[in-house]
Parts: sequence; structure tokens; C-alpha cells
Amino acid sequence: MTDSQDNLPRELTEAEKQLLIAAGWLRSRYGLMAGMDAASKLGRENLEAFGRVWIGKYLVDWSDAYRSLVSDGYLAHHDGEFSLTTEGNAARKALEVDTPLWLYEYDNFFSDAEQSHAHALFCERVYGKNLCQHGLADVSQLDKLLEALRLTGGDSVLDIGCGNGRITEHLHDLTGASFTGVDISAEAIAQARARTAAKRGRLTFKVGNMNRLDFEPQTFDAVVAIDTLYYVDDPAETLRQLALVLKPTGHMGLFYTQWINDPADRAQLLPANTSLAVLLKKHHLQFTSIDLTEPEAEHWRKKLAVLEQLKPEFEREGNLGLYHYRHSEASRYANWDSRRRSRHLYHVHS
Ligand SMILES: C[S@@+](CC[C@H](N)C(=O)[O-])C[C@H]1O[C@@H](n2cnc3c(N)ncnc32)[C@H](O)[C@@H]1O
Repeated sequence: MTDSQDNLPRELTEAEKQLLIAAGWLRSRYGLMAGMDAASKLGRENLEAFGRVWIGKYLVDWSDAYRSLVSDGYLAHHDGEFSLTTEGNAARKALEVDTPLWLYEYDNFFSDAEQSHAHALFCERVYGKNLCQHGLADVSQLDKLLEALRLTGGDSVLDIGCGNGRITEHLHDLTGASFTGVDISAEAIAQARARTAAKRGRLTFKVGNMNRLDFEPQTFDAVVAIDTLYYVDDPAETLRQLALVLKPTGHMGLFYTQWINDPADRAQLLPANTSLAVLLKKHHLQFTSIDLTEPEAEHWRKKLAVLEQLKPEFEREGNLGLYHYRHSEASRYANWDSRRRSRHLYHVHS
């Protein structure tokens, strides 16, 4: 399928890919959100329950994959439990450069959310407008982004991790700037293209990978990343590539939440010390920041309350899966100690 799979001894089937990915992530926060924990066994039952939650409508039959992955040495099997071998883990990492677990997650999300009236109401009430948002930036945060970037009709902007492009289109409508939106989710990009066909030329959408951007140097007047930099394999490399595609007078607007596990690391929450700030300094990129930590705490509380109000709507339209998906994320972060995170909009400028 892709460059990264060229490193594998043989091409994997879709079932094998899904099973390797599930085995790799079952004991992680994704497993927790699917009702499992660090002690959960990697037996068929748990693996398939994990697959039903995270691979969702793209799940295929894994029956043959268990056998072939064990016989080719990617999985070991003892007492009804599977484990990834060193080769299996290397294969999973290689294939996840182009097919990460969250590709399935986002394909499922955009395909369900775009059809859902309950989800549209959820976005209107939480974010102030339905732009099929998945991140944390509501319209007031988008206004702050636009105040910082001061875009005009002559500007050309790259939006990385643009989802189904509703936010991109909103930013275009408000400024007249032309935008290129890139996202790894083919489902999201198909929706964006279909919806904005009449604005082609001013709005361009491409399936692409932030791990490997393929634009000419100095193409854009601005780059925006709205809650997307958490997904890159090598953030330093992605930032280097973003700086390259920016014109010398260009700007970036980057929304970024920093989480810490250990309260002793709280200095890392300061705007100049977050992982992103450290990388910006490493690349000699100058920036200012706007603190959005309080609005984030409020955002998660609001998400939970609005979801609970709208649960009957989700249920009526047969979309409880989408409700649970958004609810498990919201309850996880609403309950996160707010002294262990900070959120900033970084405005990078020359
Ligand atoms: C948290 S969502 C944010 C979407 C949108 N910007 C918003 O604020 O609602 C993260 C987005 O990044 C995309 N994404 C994740 N990994 C990616 C990658 N390696 N390359 C391009 N897009 C990616 C996902 O498909 C998803 O649309």
C-alpha cells in the first residue's frame, strides 16, 4: 500500500494489519476507553471487542490472520493469549506510519458525525457553530487565531489535520484567503471535496500525511494546526517541514495542549516550556502565545453536560456509538486534574 510497508518482509492483508494494530494498542488509553485495562488479556474476545470499538465499520474477519501472523512469527500464542513478537511490533510500527489506529477512528468519526443531527447540535452548543469539530477550538478560539494571523484575500494557507474541512471553509469564508487542507482520513477529505466543489480554486483538499508533507518550499503565507500536532511521529521533523513550506514572512497558528502525568513536571506547562515551545525554539522560530488553559477546562465540562442533554437525540437516531465515543473522551479529560495540563495558541511569526 505504501512506502512504509516496503520495509516489511511481505505485504500484510487488511485483517493482519488490523489485528497487529489492535494487539499493539489494547493495553493503552485506547483500551481503557474500550473498557479494558493494563491487565486485560490479549485473547480473541478482548482483541475483537477492541476492534469493534476502534476499527468499527472497517473491521474485517480476522480468523485467518491469527493463524498467519502466528505462523510468520509476528504474533506468539500461549494459553489463549496472543502477544506481539519483536518482528510483529516492528511491522506494526512500520504500517502505522500510514495506517495508524486513529485513521480508522477518524474515518468512523467523520462518516458518523457528518450524518448526525444530534452531533450537529452538540457542535453548535459546545463550539458555537457546527463545523464538525473534533478538537477543542471553539469559534472564540478560531477568532483569536484569525486576529493573530490577519489573513487577507491574497493569502494562501495550509491547514494540516483539517478533518472534513468545515473549519477550513469557515476560516476561508471569514477572510477570503485560499486554503489547502490536508488530512490522513480519506473519508474526511471526500466529504470536504464534495461539499466545497463550488469553491474549488480557493479551497483545495488533499489526503496526506503530516509525517511526510509534500509541498514546495515557501508555498504558504500561513500554516494552521488545530489540535493536530499530537499525531505526528516526529514533531521536530514535521515542524521543520512546516517551516520550510512557509514563505519567509509567513506565520503559523498552532493550537496545543500540554499534558503532564507527574505534578513535579509542572514547569513544562509554562508557555515557553511545553514540548511544542521547546521545538519552536530549537528551530529558531519566534512565537508569542495566548493562554487558553481555563477555557479548556470549561470546554470539557460543557462537552459532558451537552452530551448528557443530547443523549436522547443520539439514541433516537441510532447513534449511541457516536455518543459513547465523544462521552468517553470528554469524561476522561473533564476528570483530568486541570493543574496537569495547559493549552495555548502559539503564533509563530518572523
Ligand atoms: C483532533 S482532530 C482535529 C480536527 C480539526 N482540526 C478540528 O479541530 O476539529 C485531528 C485530525 O488530524 C488528522 N490526522 C491525524 N494524524 C494525521 C496525519 N499523520 N496526517 C494528517 N492528518 C492527520 C485526523 O484525521 C483528524 O482529522
